[in-house]
Amino acid sequence: MPRFNVEAVQARLPDRQIDWFDSIDSTMIEARRNLQPGRIVGAEEQTAGIGRHGRKWISPAGEGLYVSLVLPAVLTAKPVPVMMLALGLAARDAMAGGDLRWPNDVLLNEKKCAGVLAQLEGDKIIAGIGINVSQAKFPDDLETPATSLLLEGVRVAREVLLVALVNAVDHYCQLPPEETLRQFADASSYVSGKRVRVESGLEGVTCGLDPAGFLQVREDNGTVTTILAGGVRTV
Ligand code: BTN
Repeated sequence: MPRFNVEAVQARLPDRQIDWFDSIDSTMIEARRNLQPGRIVGAEEQTAGIGRHGRKWISPAGEGLYVSLVLPAVLTAKPVPVMMLALGLAARDAMAGGDLRWPNDVLLNEKKCAGVLAQLEGDKIIAGIGINVSQAKFPDDLETPATSLLLEGVRVAREVLLVALVNAVDHYCQLPPEETLRQFADASSYVSGKRVRVESGLEGVTCGLDPAGFLQVREDNGTVTTILAGGVRTV
């Protein structure tokens, strides 16, 4: 696996501070140490990659794109849930397609290929994005099936992916919130008409996003519940 060519990315993103590590616990932890807006922290491997809801993000050397982006304040003047959707749209865009599972998993062939988390640090947001690029297999005991771009027949250099990702984050995070919601709804099969179970155990059929970007689910008894936290799974 060739080492990541930071210089090539820096040449395409001359205004960004890029800090690249051979091995790190988590790019999220490093990003918190210096919240320079626009900073990009990436690593070949993470030994303690962080997923949403306290899960781990398995981050083998050279096989994925593992980055944390410190978002400039101009990009973050929006409700956090809307930002989460915008980041999912950006990851999907960089990967040139895929389905979006609310709030921002990118699925290929119904398997998770990328995940996003956002941490608030004062008035800044650190966006953590992991894209599975060239893994040939995943552990059997994952909660949800995973895949990589390579396993889905897509060969792309991580450098190309990162430049596309950074540009897409800039683009999607600047959209007006209602446009973000509209584009997310267009891109995601999960926003309406999908039977899901929420982490809380609630089960029903999705029926749109509320204006803040939260998913709404209609239970079989007709009650509509707004999902404020927790992922959803198809049933
Ligand atoms: C999820 O659980 O879906 C979110 C996964 C986010 C993983 C990325 S990899 C880069 C950054 N550093 C981390 O430790 N986590 C995020």
